[in-house]
Amino acid sequence: MSNDTAAIDSSALTTGLSRKPQVIAAEAERPVEDRGEPVFSVKDLDFYYGSYRAIRDVTMDIWPREITALIGPSGCGKSTLLRCFNRMNDLIPGAHIEGQIMFRGEDLYGSRVDPIEVRRRIGMVFQKPNPFPKTIYDNVAFGPRVNGFPRNEMADLVELSLRRAALWDEVKDKLKQSAFSLSGGQQQRLCIARAIAVKPSVILMDEPCSALDPIATIRIEELMTELKDTYTIVIVTHNMQQAARVSDRTAFLTADVDDKGIRCGVLVEYDRTDKLFTTPKDKRTDDYITGRFG
Ligand SMILES: Nc1ncnc2c1ncn2[C@@H]1O[C@H](COP(=O)(O)OP(=O)(O)O)[C@@H](O)[C@H]1O
Ligand SMILES: [Mg+2]
Repeated sequence: MSNDTAAIDSSALTTGLSRKPQVIAAEAERPVEDRGEPVFSVKDLDFYYGSYRAIRDVTMDIWPREITALIGPSGCGKSTLLRCFNRMNDLIPGAHIEGQIMFRGEDLYGSRVDPIEVRRRIGMVFQKPNPFPKTIYDNVAFGPRVNGFPRNEMADLVELSLRRAALWDEVKDKLKQSAFSLSGGQQQRLCIARAIAVKPSVILMDEPCSALDPIATIRIEELMTELKDTYTIVIVTHNMQQAARVSDRTAFLTADVDDKGIRCGVLVEYDRTDKLFTTPKDKRTDDYITGRFG
């Protein structure tokens, strides 16, 4: 895999600042445990929809080239937390965060940061495959075109992105067909190819398999494992087996209910996946993973 994607990691989130690809290229060659700095550092994060606090006091680090799973019962704030990582929640009127998220040493919510650049660097794949009503080719080429990617290199970029998303062999002879002609699992891999095409360093996935059959699900899980050589992945899943199968670290969230009956999402436990599933420290985690709750 080339270092071009990793090189993007080092560029500042504010547009126009200088890039230092050589630094990150060297970093990419070092073993995982050696890579020092977290990709995201979340500190004392509260998230509000208007006056409603949906999550509170979240502190956690997300590590490079790992898959981090967010699990927990419905409504505990998994999607909300995930959307904080690429400022997708900014699009919701009245929503705001308190606390801090650092992304590669930069304040993600800093006043000089360009949220459009954030969403290019930190891509997102949703629960239901949502290809554009365009051809397979144009779905992948869409983002790069908007970013002014050279026309004469586009076909190569589309092929590379489809290859990385493990879809190329299935679609190479029908690139001009509508994306809707694909199966659900193929559409989801197309959405992953579309996310990859703009060269993000992080891919956020919100229950990416929940609309897929078991075979398509396994295919996406295999793909995620391949992709983590290059990308940092954060996945929300309600499927604990999936979290156990694919992730390196797991965060368990739940909804706390205060004495007024108001629910608020909290991070109960965050650890290496094997540890969290075999020797959880918190009883609430234990109850959840053993099916006594949730
Ligand atoms: N756009 C929104 N406006 C107001 N409240 C929301 C919005 N989205 C989610 N919520 C609320 O925030 C809480 C967490 O939701 P969510 O992050 O979707 O949970 P999960 O993904 O864990 O099921 C829930 O109480 C939900 O109703
Ligand atoms: Mg959700």
